[in-house]
Amino acid sequence: MKRYEDPQWKESMGITLDFNNMMSGMIGGEQGISGSSMEAMSDSLASAAKAMEQKRAEGRMDWRDLPYNQKETVEDIKRTASGIRDRFDAFVVLGIGGSALGPIAVQQALNHAHYNELPREKRDGYPRFYVEDNVDPEKMQALFDVIDLTKTVFNVITKSGSTSETMSQFLIIKDMLQQKLGDQYREHLIATTDRENGNLIRIAKAEGLKTFYIPRGVGGRFSELSPVGLLSAAVCGIDIEEMLAGAAYMDEICKDENIRENPAYMAAALQYLAMKSGKNISVMMPYADSLKYIADWYAQLWAESLGKRFNSRGETVHAGQTPVKALGVTDQHSQVQLYTEGPFDKVVTFLKVGRYRTTVKIANGFEEIPAVSFLGGHTMNELIHAEQTATEYALLKAKRMNRTITLPEVNAFTVGELLYFLEVETAFAGELLGINAFDQPGVEEGKNATYALLGRPGYEAKKAELTARPEKKPEYVLKGKVREPVGSAV
Ligand code: PA5
Repeated sequence: MKRYEDPQWKESMGITLDFNNMMSGMIGGEQGISGSSMEAMSDSLASAAKAMEQKRAEGRMDWRDLPYNQKETVEDIKRTASGIRDRFDAFVVLGIGGSALGPIAVQQALNHAHYNELPREKRDGYPRFYVEDNVDPEKMQALFDVIDLTKTVFNVITKSGSTSETMSQFLIIKDMLQQKLGDQYREHLIATTDRENGNLIRIAKAEGLKTFYIPRGVGGRFSELSPVGLLSAAVCGIDIEEMLAGAAYMDEICKDENIRENPAYMAAALQYLAMKSGKNISVMMPYADSLKYIADWYAQLWAESLGKRFNSRGETVHAGQTPVKALGVTDQHSQVQLYTEGPFDKVVTFLKVGRYRTTVKIANGFEEIPAVSFLGGHTMNELIHAEQTATEYALLKAKRMNRTITLPEVNAFTVGELLYFLEVETAFAGELLGINAFDQPGVEEGKNATYALLGRPGYEAKKAELTARPEKKPEYVLKGKVREPVGSAV
């Protein structure tokens, strides 16, 4: 029996949400949320819950079914991953946004902090792992200094099959592989994309590439639990079935229409009320390096889903809450000063770990200096816990809204729970804001402008629109003394 099949173990791995420090009873009536403001929204909460239910039933939230409907895909992924482990030294994801942030976050959470630097036997034979998301030429070139093309598999991931960044990386890699390996290049490429739409699926079919599909109703930032994230995780030895079991466990908890029984709905409702009271920044601050990139993944999920100009009725709303990534304790020495004394415009979410996967003792020493020696005999585990508690207390004292999500430990199950929880929270917040959490028109505009600038056929009008703009000249020339502005600004 797998441990995630044991109900007792699962219960012991349940993540918790403590939102006390968002409430007026803790941080006062001026900054905190009152019970009556929650009561006042009960109708909109009920209709948002109904809308969630209905959308799911109508197949408009397919990402919610990922924990259940991928049995065959998971088998295929495991087979493919094992073949890769047998033959290759490195696995590289080519993708961006929702096609990259999840794989990075999960790898960082669940594998060794210096995974790539470990000798292969200490990685249990699993290949090294890289993600190329940006199109910085120096970064791309640097990859070729650390991998051997002949021993590397590239997983090109793009839901739309047309993202310029990913497709240009794909063109570069395919050309290099073909030059080096001739027809065998195919064995080094795996495509993850939509089953029918987009250019990548056409190419993959024509070239005969191994392909995984992103289900139709699963958008980029909601796709980590699809082959987008599962393949790289399995390739690096992560138990993807346990991750999906964690997500399924959370789904059970987040199904309840009653907001008081549904932590994701409750979390979203409180964030909604926080936004309404001007708290337009959502800081995620994990107290674990392993969860650092969960904050990056969350930033995209929260920003791209909720940052919308129009609501579903077409009215201008400019909705959203700006996500900020921080790391405990590192950013206590960088950002916490602002959080405790700056504007009252933030909700801080601490990600706390109950049990770290290792214990490091702090040695005794310098007994003659009590301000140093008091640390000796403690563990780093105690220290990081104390620092999180202390920061939470400092925020509470300064009447700053904060909440804490605790993972009993970081493992595939709890990470699956956390990702799923944050996805449901985001979708429910979208309902409350009355916006479409699943599109990204603001990103599409930039994508289209890039196509136009690089001459993609069909984008001539966009190119004309861009080139019709007045020429932009620098306002200041930063050379020597300050000069008069040069030219006119747009
Ligand atoms: O959430 C989204 O849909 C986006 O952030 C996409 O993931 C991102 O733009 C990459 O798109 P694609 O997977 O189509 O290449």
